[in-house]
Amino acid sequence: MTVGMGAVCTTLIAGVEAVRKGLAKPIGSLTQMGTIRLGKRTEGKSPLMRDFLPLAKLDDIVFTGWDIFGGNLYDAAMTAQVLDKGLLEKIRPFLESIEPMPAAFDQNYVKRLTGTHIKSGKNKRDLAEQIRKDIQAFKKKNDRVVVIWTGSTEIFLKQSAVHQSLAAFEKGMDDDDPGIAPSQLYAWAALTEGIPFINGAPNLTVDFPAINELSRKMNAPIAGRDFKTGQTLIKSVLAPAFKARMLGVSGWFSTNILGNRDGEVLDEPGSFKTKEESKLGLLEMILQPDLYPDLYNDIYHKIRINYYPPRADNKESWDNIDIFGWLGYPMQLKVNFLCRDSILAAPLALDLCLFMDLAARTPSLKGLGIQEWLSFYFKAPDSAPGVYPENDLFIQSMKMKNTLRHIMGEDLITHLGLDYYGG
Ligand SMILES: NC(=O)c1ccc[n+]([C@@H]2O[C@H](COP(=O)([O-])OP(=O)(O)OC[C@H]3O[C@@H](n4cnc5c(N)ncnc54)[C@H](O)[C@@H]3O)[C@@H](O)[C@H]2O)c1
Repeated sequence: MTVGMGAVCTTLIAGVEAVRKGLAKPIGSLTQMGTIRLGKRTEGKSPLMRDFLPLAKLDDIVFTGWDIFGGNLYDAAMTAQVLDKGLLEKIRPFLESIEPMPAAFDQNYVKRLTGTHIKSGKNKRDLAEQIRKDIQAFKKKNDRVVVIWTGSTEIFLKQSAVHQSLAAFEKGMDDDDPGIAPSQLYAWAALTEGIPFINGAPNLTVDFPAINELSRKMNAPIAGRDFKTGQTLIKSVLAPAFKARMLGVSGWFSTNILGNRDGEVLDEPGSFKTKEESKLGLLEMILQPDLYPDLYNDIYHKIRINYYPPRADNKESWDNIDIFGWLGYPMQLKVNFLCRDSILAAPLALDLCLFMDLAARTPSLKGLGIQEWLSFYFKAPDSAPGVYPENDLFIQSMKMKNTLRHIMGEDLITHLGLDYYGG
């Protein structure tokens, strides 16, 4: 069940159908194309993840969701302008068969959009209960369910008293507390139904004590936030490389042009602030200026997102990185990434749904709340209180693969490898 059926969501759903029909390959998806090494390097055992793990099969996935605009997914995919019309025509009847359910929406939280296909209720609790009913109805027809937020970026919210316990949050829904955004209502509804919830956007949605408490109580895993796709993906590759070689960084200027609806929403300062916060934290977490003050104490880090309609979903980003080496001599690196936003995000959304469904069936994981092993997929991953989140892509990747080995009762791989040399 996808909350928000725009560019990412339609690219996900149309993509899964195209793969099912043999029209294209699931490039970018680890669950569909990735392998995992088991045992020693000399054993030659690297099965496909989808053969090794009891993941749901693409053929068995059924899609539904909510949006603040009506109309079927063929029209939504045409509006999003991500996939070619030729491909969409081949799966048109399938896409036309899916129509979003009316959404829980409040324009105060996404100021650039005016919803026309929305639920009405006497308060936030009432709206959340309506979402629960939608989930219950879908659950009756399907074995297992996962809910993923692929909706717009909401305005920047800070945790307040209402987020500190489940009791306070539920009272807050009764009282229409302004700290409770629509995305939080979906998270509450899903978890209350024992369904895992993923947040693909930077909003404050699952990362606070009340939702954590509910997640643990209901054995329904949570993961977020903000898919790590274009510019931030590259940042989380380059920054660990500088740190691994003890190269200093004095400045990192990142700018983007983006012309899709996401870009339009992010043009509004409240939503931009939410995105900016989620992108900014990453460098500091990776570079650890407290441990390396000579290298990273004075970084000037600037992020710009510019709404530029002619490019639609084809984002272009530029990074100028000022670094310094031996004896402080300065150098520069420039990155110009001509990417496709939703083409990068859709396989992440698929993997997250399949892995969260697996986590919900794994006794040692489902009661933990936050699934930190999935931080590989997020710009600002959530982590346990007092534990800093791991942002380095390669540590995240190792952590995820070891968790998958753990799920299947296989030996973990430490990469020590002395035994190959008689050690
Ligand atoms: N594409 C990427 O690379 C990428 C990367 C990281 C994060 N994201 C985030 O993913 C989200 C979706 O991106 P997109 O490009 O698909 O945006 P989009 O604008 O195309 O789609 C978002 C959809 O959510 C709907 N929506 C808004 N509020 C809703 C609500 N309360 N209930 C139900 N539907 C609601 C909107 O009507 C819209 O159709 C954004 O928050 C974006 O920042 C995208």
